[in-house]
Amino acid sequence: MNKLVLVTGGTGYIGSHTAVELIESGYQVLIADNLMNSRREVLEGIREITGIRPFFEEFDLCDMQKLIACCNKYEKIDAIIHFAALKAVGESVSRPLEYYENNLGSMINLLKAMRDFGIPGLVFSSSCTVYGQPENLPVTEETPVQKAASPYGNTKQVSEEMIADFLASAEGYRAISLRYFNPVGAHASALIGEYPIGPPLNLVPIITQTLIGKRSELHVFGNDYNTPDGTGIRDYIHVVDLAKAHVAAIRRLEERKGNEPFEVFNLGTGKGLSVLEIIAAFEKVLDMKVNYRIVPRRPGDIGCIYADASKAGEILGWKALAPFEEVVLSAWKWEQQINRMTNV
Ligand code: UD1
Repeated sequence: MNKLVLVTGGTGYIGSHTAVELIESGYQVLIADNLMNSRREVLEGIREITGIRPFFEEFDLCDMQKLIACCNKYEKIDAIIHFAALKAVGESVSRPLEYYENNLGSMINLLKAMRDFGIPGLVFSSSCTVYGQPENLPVTEETPVQKAASPYGNTKQVSEEMIADFLASAEGYRAISLRYFNPVGAHASALIGEYPIGPPLNLVPIITQTLIGKRSELHVFGNDYNTPDGTGIRDYIHVVDLAKAHVAAIRRLEERKGNEPFEVFNLGTGKGLSVLEIIAAFEKVLDMKVNYRIVPRRPGDIGCIYADASKAGEILGWKALAPFEEVVLSAWKWEQQINRMTNV
């Protein structure tokens, strides 16, 4: 029987791409999602791409009784990939209690489910936000974690600590935390992509919305950072590359190699791109103009961060492969697809 992976938040952006890669690698996928920031139609997109519709349970992971019922129903879950979380940095500052309740409550419940149902492996969706603005670049996994700049970032740090404490208390369990840099792009089929319920807050979907005319202009937040062109630098990683890293992490958990029960990996390309470089790439690849204006910095933004992802290369055998051109093409194809879906 193929191994069964519980993917929490599996109808979301990274979760849905990971579900596809898991199915294509021969795993059975069970998605648990409360659909608060994603849509049921994503299941159909996954089926169209892979030919297989994942199992789906709609519930909130903060509800332990429902999680127990789900684990009983599917009997043997081999591993969990935990994506489900609130993730808007700004909103977490104004609604910290909801963020702690949701992101930490669900984490506690999943760790209890691992313990009570003997689920041996967990892959956790973490973020480069745990590093703050590091002194030295690129960022390795040894770069010190800094006091979180937002309640959202703090939920990622505390979740990693809770996982480590749980693993120290119990024999036989393993976990991997994947610290993502900036996920962008969509599946090449344009059958799945980032499709949040509210307006997007990240750079790439805002660029494509500007290109398609949903927004009149893009605001570039600050050109006075200590970077070559003054705009912020990030490490943008294609979401399909990111999804493949989760399959590599699940395999690593299965193999039970290495002495550490809890491993952490950075997932990025190793290359930083500025906001103006991103805009230029979209303009060149699509032969279109992005209407933009420089405005003051966005509170809470840092100037520059990019990854050293060599540990993931050495241990997981994973590397980001997609050139940025593929990010541009897939993001644009997906924006056009959203436009079609919302105009029918
Ligand atoms: C944010 C989150 C991070 C999360 C990531 C992907 C913070 C501090 N971090 O990263 O935890 O993993 O999203 O979901 O918020 N920009 C503009 N104009 C815009 C939007 C963005 O100039 O309209 C700039 C930003 O200033 C930044 C870059 O584009 O330099 C990327 O921004 P964004 O896509 O929002 O991601 P991050 O803020 O890096």
